[in-house]
Amino acid sequence: MKEIFDGIYSDGKNIYTKNLVLGKKVYGEKIVREGGEEFREWDPYRSKYGAGIKKGLKKSIFFNGCTAIYLGSAEGTTVSHVSDIVEEKGAIFCIDVSEIAMNKLTKLAEERENIYPILSDAQMTENYKEYFETKADAMFQDISQRNQADIFVRNSKFLKKGGLGALALKTKSISQSNLKEDILKSEINILEKEFEILQTILIEPYEKHHYLILMRKK
Ligand SMILES: C[S@@+](CC[C@H](N)C(=O)[O-])C[C@H]1O[C@@H](n2cnc3c(N)ncnc32)[C@H](O)[C@@H]1O
Repeated sequence: MKEIFDGIYSDGKNIYTKNLVLGKKVYGEKIVREGGEEFREWDPYRSKYGAGIKKGLKKSIFFNGCTAIYLGSAEGTTVSHVSDIVEEKGAIFCIDVSEIAMNKLTKLAEERENIYPILSDAQMTENYKEYFETKADAMFQDISQRNQADIFVRNSKFLKKGGLGALALKTKSISQSNLKEDILKSEINILEKEFEILQTILIEPYEKHHYLILMRKK
């Protein structure tokens, strides 16, 4: 097992994070034990951030002890790996509008104390601003809405200057007919108000019609 980014490992084929809750799986993933340690396989077909890593992400936004905002957490598949990475000293504030997803995430948060579920629309930043009196180190978003870039920019006030962000952009949610390259360009225009774009990655074949955009808050 080789550490390729802080808290993210590779055996040359698959990627893994070190399991924070020994013996417990989250979504049926494989567990590999090596050198007295336990690693959870990170399925890039189930996680757009995982897909980005597989497709050559050059810098990971999460690190041990990091405070992260996760917009569109769903029931916590990717969040569970972020929880492994940030470990006990870190925190992940997870915002999702779905009550069903949040109920499942709340169960996961009972086992993983660094997860903080927040039931809210990510466009209604007033609802959860009190969590970010101290700004976050990193921000990730995976929300398939027409105004994805706008939601990301709207939440950027909670991210500290120089903090890293990543957006999983679903082009089909923006337009069914326009070219994905053109959609990417126009979304980048919106993001550039607040961010310097560091990398864009097409994450196919893991996710169709999706890019991962890596950026830094200006
Ligand atoms: C594709 S899923 C996220 C999967 C998750 N990121 C993962 O990798 O495990 C998208 C999520 O965005 C949520 N969502 C959609 N619109 C939203 C909004 N306006 N505010 C917050 N969450 C939203 C949905 O409820 C859904 O759970």
